[in-house]
Amino acid sequence: MAPILRSGIALRCPRCKAAPLSECERKLECACGYTNQADAAGVFDLAFALQAQAARQRETYDQRLAGQDSNSDPWHCFTTFEGLKKTRALRKLRLNAGETFLEIGCASGPVLASLCANTGARGYGIDISPESVARQLARRGQASYDAICAPADELPFADASFDAVLSLDVLEHLAQPEVFMAEIARVLKPGGRALVKGNVSDIGLTFDWLQSKLRPAKWRASQTELGHFPENFRSKAEHAKAARAAGLIVKHMFGSDVFWENIADYVILPRLYAPFMRKSGEAGPAGDAAVTLRVPIDMPHRLVRLMLRVGEWMLWPEWVLGRLGIGATAYFEFEKPV
Ligand SMILES: C[S@@+](CC[C@H](N)C(=O)[O-])C[C@H]1O[C@@H](n2cnc3c(N)ncnc32)[C@H](O)[C@@H]1O
Ligand SMILES: [Zn+2]
Repeated sequence: MAPILRSGIALRCPRCKAAPLSECERKLECACGYTNQADAAGVFDLAFALQAQAARQRETYDQRLAGQDSNSDPWHCFTTFEGLKKTRALRKLRLNAGETFLEIGCASGPVLASLCANTGARGYGIDISPESVARQLARRGQASYDAICAPADELPFADASFDAVLSLDVLEHLAQPEVFMAEIARVLKPGGRALVKGNVSDIGLTFDWLQSKLRPAKWRASQTELGHFPENFRSKAEHAKAARAAGLIVKHMFGSDVFWENIADYVILPRLYAPFMRKSGEAGPAGDAAVTLRVPIDMPHRLVRLMLRVGEWMLWPEWVLGRLGIGATAYFEFEKPV
């Protein structure tokens, strides 16, 4: 029986914290007696003692995937401005062939697969939703990355396991972002890089802020539906402080999702793309209003890219405001000192 794990990156036992866990016959085993059997889809579920919020995340994201075919990527809207920004930001990880990286909250999307294919790095994806991990594995083919179900605030890896860590839009789903920062710092090798993006509490002067003021109940409901916990949101400065306390250097931090980007992604672009999407036979928006055309991360559709270029040119105020620290979300680039 072919092993499920193939990246060669060791897992550590969630019970006794010793590494490596060894795989035999689709079962993980530790000398301490801990075992974990993969399910029928090949998913190892190491998220055993879930906190209430994490349990709700699992439920939310398992449900959001239900009923969609295994090729759809509901969380990867690379044809949106946000998607384009994420794609660009990935370059900051400066991944090289042979390096190792971890994606926290990998969902079923193509970032993990694409980064491995395009950089030659070996990757690991973790997500709280077994259904998402199953989709991720179904698209893996012969590629040598791994995906398992595990919680972001208790990573099943030994200290200094990765050259790079990546996490996009997961921060706002966590009860204790500080623990998450500490875990990133722990699993990074000295000199390792991390890229983290997520919602923040200091959303003044943004589209989100306006919505939260004009329609507070609707704004809160939309956050809850996405699995966000606004009551746990931290400011950009608080996240940076937590990262520094965990021993990371904050190389860059800038605001995103200011105003125009959201209007473009959620109001203008879906309308512009609607006829094109029908023509191309692609599935429509999956669950929310954003465009969810499937486009490989490294090769956005030419037409879509052209439209984005034109639009991006108009986004310069967003860029300037982001550099001034304004944004409903923020990008953080960290480094672990050598
Ligand atoms: C908004 S999606 C982002 C997915 C993807 N990173 C992207 O940028 O499109 C949030 C993801 O985080 C996962 N997640 C939420 N809470 C988590 C936790 N405590 N540990 C690990 N993953 C979690 C969800 O299952 C979901 O796949
Ligand atoms: Zn053990």
